[in-house]
Amino acid sequence: MTTMLDATRAAKIANPGHGDTFTDHMFSLSYSPDRGWHTPELQRMANLSIHPGMIGLHYAQVVFEGIKAHRQVDGGVAVFRPWDNARRFRASARRLAMPELPEDMFVDGVSQLVAADQDWLGDDPAHSLYIRPLLYGSDISLMLRPSNEYRFLVMAFLAGGFFGDNVESVSVWVSHEHSRAIPGGTGNVKVAGNYAPSFVAQKQAQEHGCQQVVWLDPIERTWLEELGGMNMFFVRGTGRGAELVTPQLSGTLLPGVTRNTLLTLAERLGYAPREERISLDQWRTECRDGRITEVFACGTAAVVTPVGQVKDAGGDWIVGDGRPGPVTLRLRKALVDAQHGVGGDPDGWTHRV
Ligand SMILES: Cc1ncc(COP(=O)(O)O)c(C=O)c1O
Repeated sequence: MTTMLDATRAAKIANPGHGDTFTDHMFSLSYSPDRGWHTPELQRMANLSIHPGMIGLHYAQVVFEGIKAHRQVDGGVAVFRPWDNARRFRASARRLAMPELPEDMFVDGVSQLVAADQDWLGDDPAHSLYIRPLLYGSDISLMLRPSNEYRFLVMAFLAGGFFGDNVESVSVWVSHEHSRAIPGGTGNVKVAGNYAPSFVAQKQAQEHGCQQVVWLDPIERTWLEELGGMNMFFVRGTGRGAELVTPQLSGTLLPGVTRNTLLTLAERLGYAPREERISLDQWRTECRDGRITEVFACGTAAVVTPVGQVKDAGGDWIVGDGRPGPVTLRLRKALVDAQHGVGGDPDGWTHRV
């Protein structure tokens, strides 16, 4: 029996995919108004027993995070920038009228889980542990109100590449019909309710032969915002003169931890990164006249993923020669190196478990 389990696990580790190779444990913590945060527990991964009338299930009073842990060059394991996710988790909870989990408790839960399940991580540099902290309203009530009680869970899965293990360019489709976020809404935080409404546009992108959807701003439908569940970057020029631009945080974009990391790394590599508004028309025109040479998406799951082709109702176009460009690959390497502790940790980004 043990041998069969070991064989199943080995097969999963050899080919983890993205999203369903869960590790052995989960961390759990509860909240109630009278006891505060209580009963921290590391337990075996198991099904939950929930009442069908639970608030989180009906009204999406649910927030989550996405973080990765990586095998380090010295053989240890470290979580990448968990304090930044802890801060964003608090902001997300605040937006949904939920209690804000103290950042040290968040990082402690993540660390306990990673410490328990780090053996899932071999030394394949393409593999990481994707960690998913989750907080949901657990009151049993269908009254339209915030929950009083909450449960915080941390789980993890072994991740291969989000778009496969090789760095290949993806094609993207521009949605003119749907918006991801609206002013005054929840686009700048990571709440569960942001994601189900994006699925229909994602399906349309796939029907057009594309891997991801491009989100435009919801008012003028002119300005580029995000790519599926990722931030985006544009490279203008080539070689030493290359410059990096990313859409500015307008309130409807998620402030990605990867985006922030790349802004720092790009500065260091001499790409003079800027945050500015950039329109769909600019993207098309500047690609055609050669000013924009590369485009890529970034996020915890996607790392840095080159964009090779854009499909749009107004006409399709290719970015550069359609293949991963040198600036994209250089930044990707700088990010992956930082995650794996290559060259030390000058920014204090890695959190050892
Ligand atoms: C909508 C959206 N944008 C961008 C990102 C990238 O953020 P991060 O780099 O923190 O993973 C994510 C993923 O969390 C996301 O869901």
